[in-house]
Amino acid sequence: MNKGRIFSAMQPSGKFHLGNYMGALENWVKLQKEYECFFAIADLHALTSAYADTSKIPENIYNMALDWLSAGLDPEKNVIFIQSHVKEHAELHLLLSMMTPLSWLERVPTYKDKLQNLGEQGKDINTYGFLGYPELMTADIILYKAGWVPVGEDQNPHLELAREITRRFNMLYAPVFVEPQGLMSRASVLPGIDGRKMSKSYGNTIPFAASPDELRERVRMIVTDPQRIKKDDPGHPEVCVAYKFHQLFNKEEISQLEQDCRGGCIGCVACKKNLAEKMIVVMADMHVRRQEYEGRKGLIHDILEDGAKKAQVVAAQTMAEAKEAMHLI
Ligand code: TRP
Repeated sequence: MNKGRIFSAMQPSGKFHLGNYMGALENWVKLQKEYECFFAIADLHALTSAYADTSKIPENIYNMALDWLSAGLDPEKNVIFIQSHVKEHAELHLLLSMMTPLSWLERVPTYKDKLQNLGEQGKDINTYGFLGYPELMTADIILYKAGWVPVGEDQNPHLELAREITRRFNMLYAPVFVEPQGLMSRASVLPGIDGRKMSKSYGNTIPFAASPDELRERVRMIVTDPQRIKKDDPGHPEVCVAYKFHQLFNKEEISQLEQDCRGGCIGCVACKKNLAEKMIVVMADMHVRRQEYEGRKGLIHDILEDGAKKAQVVAAQTMAEAKEAMHLI
């Protein structure tokens, strides 16, 4: 403590999987030790694609909070809250929208891609709100004058836009806001159990909330070298999905395993059994924390409301400065 202030958020969009954890949350848990962190559950962003059926949102928010707490985000050290509970996010989004050229939003590469993708799935997101998705992200970040935003590379165009909007505001009115920088980590990319990208829509995920038995079952289904029929056939770790998992969860044994596999000394079943046990150990603390919080909706509610209160103190202060700069006070 203290390298500066961080803001990040995730959309509460259903079940969180181990790939999501390795890609982002694992990094947040590390960063909380060195930075002052604000982490929001981006329910307003979820509305951009889920506006027609919002019934799952409360459950998704609860599950996301449970995942974050299980992963080890400490509610004492960080400000953890629901985006819509701090109304300043919506307020700043509106003010920024007045001075953001339409073309800046239309040219964000994720905009047309997602519009088309979701359109093909029968979801019409040709809305004002969806176009403003990165505008709302900008408001989220700069409301806290966060210097750093840990996100995946896919969010780079959004951060670039956030900086442009920030500069425009600061130039038009007064230097109220801080230009945010991305904090890219070399995130570990965990493939799905079939070797493709881990994704809910491929049905190849390992749920982050998996119990030890569920974990054993999913790991048993990981695809290995298709050329190995008998267990003493020589294996090819470079094409084996279980090997990729071992690289992330079982670093100590990796070179021995590689040798044994190439030499046909260990079968895939045994190799995956070993992997599952190693993963269970790595995730043991998370499992314990999950059991502590699971079902305690009141406690989770209080944590999020406490977070919203703390966030609002900062957000209200920034809003006062922004409004003064725009002669709205
Ligand atoms: N768009 C981000 C995602 O899908 C979530 C998000 C919302 C966010 N607001 C943010 C990320 C602000 C970083 C900063 O992952």
